[in-house]
Amino acid sequence: MAGGLVAFPTETVYGLGANAEDEAGVKKIYLAKDRPADHPLIVHIAHPSDLDHFAKSVPDYANDLMRDFWPGPMTLILPRTKNAKDFITGNQETVGLRIPNHPVALALLLAYKNQGGHGIAAPSANRYGSVSPTDAKAVETELGDRLDADDMILDGGTSEVGLESTIIDCTGLSPKILRPGAITAEMIEGSTSMVVADPTTNSIRVSGSHAKHYSPKARVIIGSEAQAGEGFIALSDHPTPLGAIRLAEPNNNDEFAAVLYSALRAADKQHLTVVHVLPPEGDGIAIAIRDRIQRAAAG
Ligand code: TXA
Ligand code: MG
Repeated sequence: MAGGLVAFPTETVYGLGANAEDEAGVKKIYLAKDRPADHPLIVHIAHPSDLDHFAKSVPDYANDLMRDFWPGPMTLILPRTKNAKDFITGNQETVGLRIPNHPVALALLLAYKNQGGHGIAAPSANRYGSVSPTDAKAVETELGDRLDADDMILDGGTSEVGLESTIIDCTGLSPKILRPGAITAEMIEGSTSMVVADPTTNSIRVSGSHAKHYSPKARVIIGSEAQAGEGFIALSDHPTPLGAIRLAEPNNNDEFAAVLYSALRAADKQHLTVVHVLPPEGDGIAIAIRDRIQRAAAG
Protein backbone atom coordinates (compact mmCIF):
# COMPACT_ATOMS: atom_id res chain seq x y z
CA MET A 1 0.00 0.00 0.00
CA ALA A 2 2.86 2.38 1.00
CA GLY A 3 1.39 5.67 -0.23
CA GLY A 4 -0.82 3.94 -2.80
CA LEU A 5 -4.47 2.94 -2.70
CA VAL A 6 -5.96 -0.49 -2.15
CA ALA A 7 -9.55 -1.34 -2.91
CA PHE A 8 -10.62 -4.22 -0.67
CA PRO A 9 -13.71 -6.31 0.02
CA THR A 10 -15.73 -6.03 3.21
CA GLU A 11 -18.94 -7.76 4.19
CA THR A 12 -20.89 -4.52 3.56
CA VAL A 13 -19.42 -3.04 0.37
CA TYR A 14 -15.94 -2.66 -1.13
CA GLY A 15 -13.76 0.11 0.30
CA LEU A 16 -11.03 2.25 -1.25
CA GLY A 17 -8.27 2.38 1.34
CA ALA A 18 -5.16 4.35 2.25
CA ASN A 19 -3.06 4.74 5.39
CA ALA A 20 -5.33 6.72 7.71
CA GLU A 21 -2.38 8.82 8.87
CA ASP A 22 -0.95 9.63 5.44
CA GLU A 23 -2.38 12.87 4.14
CA ALA A 24 -1.11 12.35 0.58
CA GLY A 25 -2.66 8.87 0.40
CA VAL A 26 -5.98 10.08 1.78
CA LYS A 27 -5.97 12.96 -0.74
CA LYS A 28 -5.69 10.36 -3.51
CA ILE A 29 -8.90 8.73 -2.25
CA TYR A 30 -10.79 12.02 -2.46
CA LEU A 31 -9.42 12.65 -5.94
CA ALA A 32 -10.30 9.18 -7.24
CA LYS A 33 -13.86 9.50 -5.93
CA ASP A 34 -14.44 13.21 -6.69
CA ARG A 35 -15.50 13.39 -3.06
CA PRO A 36 -15.99 16.77 -1.30
CA ALA A 37 -13.10 17.26 1.17
CA ASP A 38 -15.36 17.94 4.16
CA HIS A 39 -16.91 14.44 4.05
CA PRO A 40 -15.19 12.40 6.78
CA LEU A 41 -13.83 8.90 6.17
CA ILE A 42 -14.29 5.73 8.23
CA VAL A 43 -11.05 4.35 9.69
CA HIS A 44 -10.89 0.55 9.55
CA ILE A 45 -8.92 -1.14 12.32
CA ALA A 46 -7.76 -4.71 12.94
CA HIS A 47 -8.63 -5.08 16.62
CA PRO A 48 -10.53 -3.19 19.36
CA SER A 49 -7.16 -2.44 21.01
CA ASP A 50 -6.34 -0.20 18.02
CA LEU A 51 -9.27 2.06 18.84
CA ASP A 52 -7.43 4.09 21.50
CA HIS A 53 -5.00 5.36 18.90
CA PHE A 54 -7.77 7.28 17.14
CA ALA A 55 -10.57 7.68 19.71
CA LYS A 56 -11.04 8.58 23.37
CA SER A 57 -13.82 8.99 25.97
CA VAL A 58 -15.41 5.70 24.97
CA PRO A 59 -18.74 5.26 26.81
CA ASP A 60 -19.66 1.89 28.35
CA TYR A 61 -22.42 1.34 25.81
CA ALA A 62 -19.89 1.66 22.97
CA ASN A 63 -17.82 -1.09 24.59
CA ASP A 64 -20.96 -3.26 24.68
CA LEU A 65 -21.52 -2.62 20.97
CA MET A 66 -17.92 -3.45 20.06
CA ARG A 67 -18.04 -6.65 22.06
CA ASP A 68 -21.27 -7.76 20.40
CA PHE A 69 -20.91 -6.56 16.80
CA TRP A 70 -17.22 -6.28 15.89
CA PRO A 71 -15.97 -7.48 13.52
CA GLY A 72 -19.13 -6.53 11.70
CA PRO A 73 -21.25 -4.03 9.75
CA MET A 74 -21.11 -1.27 12.39
CA THR A 75 -19.22 2.05 12.52
CA LEU A 76 -18.87 3.93 15.81
CA ILE A 77 -18.49 7.70 15.93
CA LEU A 78 -16.34 8.72 18.91
CA PRO A 79 -14.38 11.76 20.11
CA ARG A 80 -11.03 11.79 18.27
CA THR A 81 -7.45 11.77 19.54
CA LYS A 82 -4.79 13.90 17.88
CA ASN A 83 -3.96 10.95 15.61
CA ALA A 84 -7.26 11.34 13.78
CA LYS A 85 -6.33 14.34 11.70
CA ASP A 86 -8.59 16.88 10.05
CA PHE A 87 -8.04 15.23 6.65
CA ILE A 88 -9.78 12.09 8.03
CA THR A 89 -12.51 13.68 10.10
CA GLY A 90 -13.46 16.52 7.78
CA ASN A 91 -12.36 18.95 10.52
CA GLN A 92 -14.79 17.42 13.03
CA GLU A 93 -13.83 16.54 16.61
CA THR A 94 -15.09 12.98 16.09
CA VAL A 95 -13.81 9.96 14.18
CA GLY A 96 -15.62 6.97 12.65
CA LEU A 97 -14.16 3.51 13.36
CA ARG A 98 -15.01 0.00 12.17
CA ILE A 99 -13.63 -3.55 12.22
CA PRO A 100 -15.01 -5.20 9.08
CA ASN A 101 -15.95 -8.87 9.07
CA HIS A 102 -14.33 -10.20 5.92
CA PRO A 103 -11.31 -12.51 5.84
CA VAL A 104 -9.52 -10.51 3.12
CA ALA A 105 -10.13 -7.18 4.87
CA LEU A 106 -9.00 -8.59 8.22
CA ALA A 107 -5.88 -10.13 6.65
CA LEU A 108 -5.05 -6.79 5.03
CA LEU A 109 -5.61 -4.87 8.28
CA LEU A 110 -3.52 -7.35 10.27
CA ALA A 111 -0.65 -7.34 7.74
CA TYR A 112 -0.75 -3.57 7.82
CA LYS A 113 -0.74 -3.50 11.62
CA ASN A 114 2.27 -5.82 11.68
CA GLN A 115 4.13 -3.21 9.62
CA GLY A 116 3.36 -0.58 12.25
CA GLY A 117 0.16 0.81 10.75
CA HIS A 118 -2.79 1.81 12.92
CA GLY A 119 -5.73 2.00 10.56
CA ILE A 120 -6.89 2.15 6.96
CA ALA A 121 -9.19 4.98 5.95
CA ALA A 122 -11.71 3.78 3.41
CA PRO A 123 -14.90 5.14 1.94
CA SER A 124 -16.96 2.95 -0.36
CA ALA A 125 -15.02 2.35 -3.59
CA ASN A 126 -17.34 4.24 -5.93
CA ARG A 127 -17.44 7.65 -7.54
CA TYR A 128 -19.11 10.28 -5.37
CA GLY A 129 -22.91 9.90 -5.38
CA SER A 130 -22.83 6.60 -7.24
CA VAL A 131 -23.83 3.08 -6.18
CA SER A 132 -21.42 1.36 -3.77
CA PRO A 133 -19.62 -1.65 -5.27
CA THR A 134 -20.37 -5.11 -3.89
CA ASP A 135 -17.83 -7.00 -6.00
CA ALA A 136 -14.39 -6.38 -7.49
CA LYS A 137 -15.75 -5.96 -10.99
CA ALA A 138 -17.99 -3.11 -9.84
CA VAL A 139 -14.92 -1.40 -8.32
CA GLU A 140 -13.20 -1.70 -11.69
CA THR A 141 -16.25 -0.18 -13.42
CA GLU A 142 -16.38 2.71 -10.93
CA LEU A 143 -12.72 3.55 -10.50
CA GLY A 144 -10.64 1.50 -12.95
CA ASP A 145 -9.63 4.50 -15.04
CA ARG A 146 -8.82 6.57 -11.93
CA LEU A 147 -6.42 4.18 -10.22
CA ASP A 148 -2.65 4.17 -10.78
CA ALA A 149 -0.58 1.17 -11.85
CA ASP A 150 0.64 0.63 -8.28
CA ASP A 151 -2.85 0.82 -6.77
CA MET A 152 -4.57 -2.51 -6.13
CA ILE A 153 -8.03 -4.06 -6.23
CA LEU A 154 -8.29 -7.12 -3.98
CA ASP A 155 -10.98 -9.57 -5.10
CA GLY A 156 -12.84 -11.15 -2.19
CA GLY A 157 -16.03 -12.19 -3.94
CA THR A 158 -19.45 -10.65 -3.45
CA SER A 159 -20.12 -8.64 -0.26
CA GLU A 160 -22.51 -10.66 1.88
CA VAL A 161 -24.50 -7.84 3.50
CA GLY A 162 -24.57 -5.56 0.47
CA LEU A 163 -25.42 -2.28 2.26
CA GLU A 164 -23.03 0.09 4.06
CA SER A 165 -22.45 -0.28 7.80
CA THR A 166 -24.79 1.07 10.47
CA ILE A 167 -23.25 4.32 11.73
CA ILE A 168 -23.81 4.96 15.44
CA ASP A 169 -23.03 8.26 17.14
CA CYS A 170 -21.42 7.35 20.48
CA THR A 171 -20.68 10.87 21.68
CA GLY A 172 -23.90 11.29 23.68
CA LEU A 173 -25.43 9.70 26.77
CA SER A 174 -27.04 7.01 24.62
CA PRO A 175 -26.43 5.63 21.10
CA LYS A 176 -27.94 7.35 18.10
CA ILE A 177 -28.20 5.86 14.62
CA LEU A 178 -26.88 8.17 11.90
CA ARG A 179 -27.11 5.70 9.01
CA PRO A 180 -29.22 2.53 9.20
CA GLY A 181 -27.67 -0.82 8.27
CA ALA A 182 -27.59 -4.49 9.14
CA ILE A 183 -27.03 -3.75 12.84
CA THR A 184 -30.53 -2.59 13.71
CA ALA A 185 -31.94 -0.39 16.48
CA GLU A 186 -33.38 -3.50 18.10
CA MET A 187 -29.96 -5.18 18.15
CA ILE A 188 -28.34 -2.04 19.58
CA GLU A 189 -30.96 -1.84 22.31
CA GLY A 190 -30.45 -5.53 23.10
CA SER A 191 -26.71 -5.01 23.41
CA THR A 192 -26.70 -1.78 25.42
CA SER A 193 -30.01 -1.97 27.35
CA MET A 194 -30.53 1.63 26.30
CA VAL A 195 -33.18 3.31 24.22
CA VAL A 196 -31.75 4.13 20.79
CA ALA A 197 -32.45 7.32 18.94
CA ASP A 198 -33.22 6.25 15.38
CA PRO A 199 -34.30 9.15 13.17
CA THR A 200 -34.00 6.83 10.16
CA THR A 201 -36.94 4.49 10.86
CA ASN A 202 -39.53 6.58 9.04
CA SER A 203 -37.23 7.31 6.11
CA ILE A 204 -39.73 6.22 3.48
CA ARG A 205 -42.24 8.84 4.58
CA VAL A 206 -40.05 11.94 4.73
CA SER A 207 -39.70 12.10 0.97
CA GLY A 208 -37.35 14.75 -0.32
CA SER A 209 -35.33 15.11 2.87
CA HIS A 210 -32.54 12.92 1.50
CA ALA A 211 -29.73 14.01 -0.73
CA LYS A 212 -29.29 12.10 -3.96
CA HIS A 213 -26.78 9.33 -3.34
CA TYR A 214 -26.28 5.66 -4.12
CA SER A 215 -27.70 6.45 -7.56
CA PRO A 216 -27.31 4.62 -10.85
CA LYS A 217 -27.50 6.51 -14.16
CA ALA A 218 -31.02 5.17 -14.64
CA ARG A 219 -33.78 7.14 -12.93
CA VAL A 220 -35.01 5.30 -9.84
CA ILE A 221 -38.75 5.44 -9.14
CA ILE A 222 -40.24 3.97 -5.97
CA GLY A 223 -43.16 1.64 -6.67
CA SER A 224 -44.31 -1.19 -8.88
CA GLU A 225 -45.73 0.62 -11.92
CA ALA A 226 -42.96 -0.31 -14.34
CA GLN A 227 -43.83 0.01 -18.03
CA ALA A 228 -42.58 -2.28 -20.79
CA GLY A 229 -38.83 -1.87 -21.23
CA GLU A 230 -38.31 -0.41 -17.76
CA GLY A 231 -36.41 -2.15 -14.97
CA PHE A 232 -38.14 -3.69 -11.96
CA ILE A 233 -36.76 -4.74 -8.56
CA ALA A 234 -38.99 -6.27 -5.85
CA LEU A 235 -39.33 -9.24 -3.53
CA SER A 236 -40.01 -12.48 -5.39
CA ASP A 237 -43.69 -12.60 -4.37
CA HIS A 238 -44.38 -9.49 -6.48
CA PRO A 239 -44.98 -10.39 -10.14
CA THR A 240 -43.11 -8.55 -12.90
CA PRO A 241 -45.31 -5.97 -14.65
CA LEU A 242 -45.99 -6.91 -18.27
CA GLY A 243 -42.94 -6.23 -20.47
CA ALA A 244 -40.81 -4.87 -17.61
CA ILE A 245 -37.27 -6.17 -17.14
CA ARG A 246 -36.85 -8.00 -13.85
CA LEU A 247 -33.46 -7.06 -12.38
CA ALA A 248 -33.80 -8.90 -9.06
CA GLU A 249 -36.35 -11.03 -7.22
CA PRO A 250 -34.94 -11.59 -3.73
CA ASN A 251 -36.80 -14.07 -1.50
CA ASN A 252 -36.39 -12.10 1.72
CA ASN A 253 -35.04 -8.81 3.08
CA ASP A 254 -31.49 -10.06 3.64
CA GLU A 255 -31.34 -11.16 0.02
CA PHE A 256 -32.86 -7.83 -1.02
CA ALA A 257 -30.03 -5.95 0.74
CA ALA A 258 -27.42 -8.23 -0.80
CA VAL A 259 -28.60 -7.81 -4.42
CA LEU A 260 -29.95 -4.22 -4.48
CA TYR A 261 -26.75 -2.50 -5.64
CA SER A 262 -25.81 -5.11 -8.23
CA ALA A 263 -29.36 -4.92 -9.60
CA LEU A 264 -29.11 -1.12 -9.93
CA ARG A 265 -25.79 -1.60 -11.69
CA ALA A 266 -27.38 -4.12 -14.03
CA ALA A 267 -29.90 -1.44 -15.05
CA ASP A 268 -27.06 0.78 -16.23
CA LYS A 269 -25.29 -2.09 -17.95
CA GLN A 270 -28.45 -2.77 -19.93
CA HIS A 271 -28.77 0.98 -20.68
CA LEU A 272 -32.20 1.21 -19.05
CA THR A 273 -33.37 4.77 -18.43
CA VAL A 274 -35.88 3.98 -15.67
CA VAL A 275 -35.94 1.38 -12.91
CA HIS A 276 -38.83 0.88 -10.51
CA VAL A 277 -37.99 -0.42 -7.06
CA LEU A 278 -40.63 -1.69 -4.65
CA PRO A 279 -39.12 -1.41 -1.16
CA PRO A 280 -39.77 -4.12 1.44
CA GLU A 281 -41.95 -3.28 4.45
CA GLY A 282 -41.20 -3.83 8.11
CA ASP A 283 -38.30 -3.33 10.51
CA GLY A 284 -34.81 -4.76 10.71
CA ILE A 285 -32.68 -4.39 7.62
CA ALA A 286 -35.76 -3.27 5.67
CA ILE A 287 -35.22 0.18 7.22
CA ALA A 288 -31.74 0.41 5.67
CA ILE A 289 -32.99 -0.89 2.33
CA ARG A 290 -35.71 1.77 2.22
CA ASP A 291 -33.18 4.45 3.19
CA ARG A 292 -30.90 3.56 0.26
CA ILE A 293 -33.77 3.27 -2.23
CA GLN A 294 -35.10 6.63 -1.09
CA ARG A 295 -31.70 8.23 -1.63
CA ALA A 296 -31.22 6.57 -5.00
CA ALA A 297 -34.57 8.02 -6.05
CA ALA A 298 -34.00 11.52 -4.64
CA GLY A 299 -33.09 14.58 -6.66
O1 TXA B 1 -19.82 -0.23 5.26
C1 TXA B 1 -19.18 0.83 5.24
O2 TXA B 1 -19.29 1.69 6.14
C2 TXA B 1 -18.26 1.07 4.05
C3 TXA B 1 -17.12 0.06 4.11
C4 TXA B 1 -16.07 0.29 3.06
O3 TXA B 1 -16.55 0.06 5.39
N1 TXA B 1 -17.77 2.41 4.05
C5 TXA B 1 -18.54 3.48 3.75
O4 TXA B 1 -17.85 4.68 3.71
O5 TXA B 1 -19.71 3.40 3.51
P1 TXA B 1 -18.44 6.02 3.08
O6 TXA B 1 -17.33 6.99 3.13
O7 TXA B 1 -19.01 5.75 1.75
O8 TXA B 1 -19.50 6.46 4.10
C6 TXA B 1 -19.06 6.86 5.37
C7 TXA B 1 -20.07 7.68 6.06
C8 TXA B 1 -20.22 9.06 5.44
O9 TXA B 1 -21.59 9.34 5.29
C9 TXA B 1 -19.59 9.97 6.47
O10 TXA B 1 -20.20 11.22 6.50
C10 TXA B 1 -19.80 9.19 7.76
O11 TXA B 1 -19.62 7.87 7.38
N2 TXA B 1 -18.80 9.54 8.76
C11 TXA B 1 -17.50 9.23 8.80
N3 TXA B 1 -16.88 9.81 9.84
C12 TXA B 1 -17.83 10.51 10.50
C13 TXA B 1 -17.83 11.33 11.65
N4 TXA B 1 -16.72 11.58 12.34
N5 TXA B 1 -19.00 11.88 12.03
C14 TXA B 1 -20.13 11.66 11.35
N6 TXA B 1 -20.19 10.90 10.24
C15 TXA B 1 -19.07 10.33 9.82
MG1 MG C 1 -20.15 5.83 0.15
